[in-house]
Parts: sequence; structure tokens; C-alpha cells
Amino acid sequence: MEVLLSKLYERNGLTKEEIVYFLQHLTPDLKKRLFRLADETRKRHYNESVYFRGLIEFSNFCKQDCMYCGLRRSNLSVDRYRLTEEEILECAAEGYNLGYRSFVLQSGEDFRFTEELMISIVTSMKVRFPDAAITLSIGERSEAFYRALYDAGTDRYLLRHETASRSLYESLHPGMSYDNRMNCLRTLKDIGYQVGAGFMVGLPGQTYEHLAEDLLFLKELHPEMIGIGPFIPHSATPLKDATGGTAQDTLVMIAMARLFVPDALMPATTAMGTLDPTGREKALSAGANVVMPILSPLKVREKYALYENKICTGDEASHCRNCIEMRITASGYKIELGRGDHCSFLSTSE
Ligand code: 5AD
Repeated sequence: MEVLLSKLYERNGLTKEEIVYFLQHLTPDLKKRLFRLADETRKRHYNESVYFRGLIEFSNFCKQDCMYCGLRRSNLSVDRYRLTEEEILECAAEGYNLGYRSFVLQSGEDFRFTEELMISIVTSMKVRFPDAAITLSIGERSEAFYRALYDAGTDRYLLRHETASRSLYESLHPGMSYDNRMNCLRTLKDIGYQVGAGFMVGLPGQTYEHLAEDLLFLKELHPEMIGIGPFIPHSATPLKDATGGTAQDTLVMIAMARLFVPDALMPATTAMGTLDPTGREKALSAGANVVMPILSPLKVREKYALYENKICTGDEASHCRNCIEMRITASGYKIELGRGDHCSFLSTSE
């Protein structure tokens, strides 16, 4: 195990067999050392900085039917909403006034937000907030769409791969294609976006082999951002009786992903904070270095329920910023409100 931990830290990689062996034999003491090495690695690339992104959940309509997600189209109990372009801009303005210079626009796969409409939204945001970075997280679209939005000024795109195992992917995503998802990620990279991939931990049927495939896939794709969170069963989905992921298992995967892709920007996810009151702080000390406070209007917060009991749904944007800021400072990290580009991308604001 010592040899594997050293190899992971010094060479930033392990074979599939080594990863599985490592996960099978992790002791509490080794885990602690793994987290420390991940924290050290993150500090080497990004020091103590924790980057803020304001999250705007602008539509919970979704044409997909992912087995784990509360927003799946078959869930008829969801109160569906769409924000207007003006409402989205208002949210962003509120965030901008609080100091945010990085926004993530996220929604279900809602094709009412056409290429034209998305271009208009991104263009307006770029005009009003020229020094802010814009990230889209709106699912699978065509290459032409991705190109057009990039040309409109979008900086980044989040599209978790969810799981790198073809068989597991297919069992969780009826009607969707594993190859298309992977192709989308590669296309986004080719276009020039800073790309975010990532996966859930604790999916039903997920094994150490599957998690090893996730890490190896990330190493190969080398995304600029990596989002890893626990799967939390939602009562209105077919996976309602599943066990779900644990905060501890997720921390291990965050730390390993940090060592596999040392220069990635990695969020301490809201899902982590939902499972464990100090889950986000723990994620930060295990290699994560981004937080994504929610800026969506209070009236829609509860409706954007990928999973239940999501934290912060009742908090004003300013409250969120202060609460998370306090937590970060108390953990010994430093708040960064700037664009927070990946270290290989030249920031236009500096
Ligand atoms: N539990 C945890 N994460 C979830 N996601 C979707 N549903 C759930 C759930 N039940 C994650 C997916 C998606 C991201 C926006 O949220 O990984 O990509």
C-alpha cells in the first residue's frame, strides 16, 4: 500500500488493478494520508484559493429520463419552471454585486432554450458583466450548438460523464448513448472550452472496477474541471430504495481524482454538504478547490431537486455567500471571487 500511495502521489497514476487493490485495502490511517497528499497537490497548483461560482438553475424541464435524477421527465410531481432571460440576468446582477465573477448557467435538457435564445442570454451577460466567466451546464447538444455558444463568448462547459462504464451508463440512462456523451465531451474540448467532467459515487451496481474506470477516463480526457458527488436517492425515481453514496467514499474519490489530474478545478459539491453538514469543508481538505453557491431566485430553489433535502434552498444569495465564506476561511482557505480560470488558460481579466 505504501508503494501505491507513493506512486499515486509522485506519478499521478495507477493501473486499474492497482486502483482496485488500493480501494479494497484502504485503512483509516492511509485515508488520512491520501487526503493530506491531495490537499498538498492542490496547493501546489492553486495554493489555498477556493474559487466561487454563482450557480443559476434556470430551468428544471428535462427531456431525459435518468434513473437517479429527481428532474427526470417521468417524474410528474415536479413543479416545472423556466426563468426568463431577464430573470437570469437579474440573478447574475445580484451575484455580480456580491462580487461574483464566475457564473454557471445550469438546467435540465430543455430544448425550449434554443441556440438562438442561449446566444442571446450569453451575449447579454457578456455585455453586462464583461469581466465574468460564463459556464454552461445544459446537457448534450449538437457540435454546431456548442460552437455557436463558444463563439458567443461562453468560456466553459460542464457535462459530467456520470460513469465511465458503458454498461453502468446504459443501465442508468434509458434512451441515451454512452458514445454520444463521450463524443460531446471530446467535441467541447476540441472547440476550446474549459471542460468539466465528473461522476457520482455510490450508484447502484457501481464497483471499485467502475470507479477505477472513472479515474482512468479522467486522466485520459484531462478535463479542466472535475465534479464528483455522492449519489443521493430521490423518492420519486426508480432508484428510491437504493443505498446511495457515502461522504467518506466520495472524499476518497475526490482525493484520488486530485492526484490523477493535479491541475483540475474541483468543486466541493452541494451534494456533499447535503450528506454531511461539514461535507464541503471535508472535500476542500481532500483536494477540492471550488464552491458553487446557488444564486437562483428563492421561489424556484426547492423545485430544482436533483435529489431531496438539498441544502441552502431557503437562503438568500448574500446569506449563502457569507455562510460559505465563513466556512472556507475557518478551514484555512482563501476566497477567490475572480473568474477562476484553469491554470493553463490565460485569464482575460488580468
Ligand atoms: N444524487 C446526486 N447527484 C445527482 N445528480 C443528478 N441526480 C442526482 C442524485 N440523485 C448529478 C448528476 C448531474 C449533476 C448536475 O447532478 O451527476 O450531472
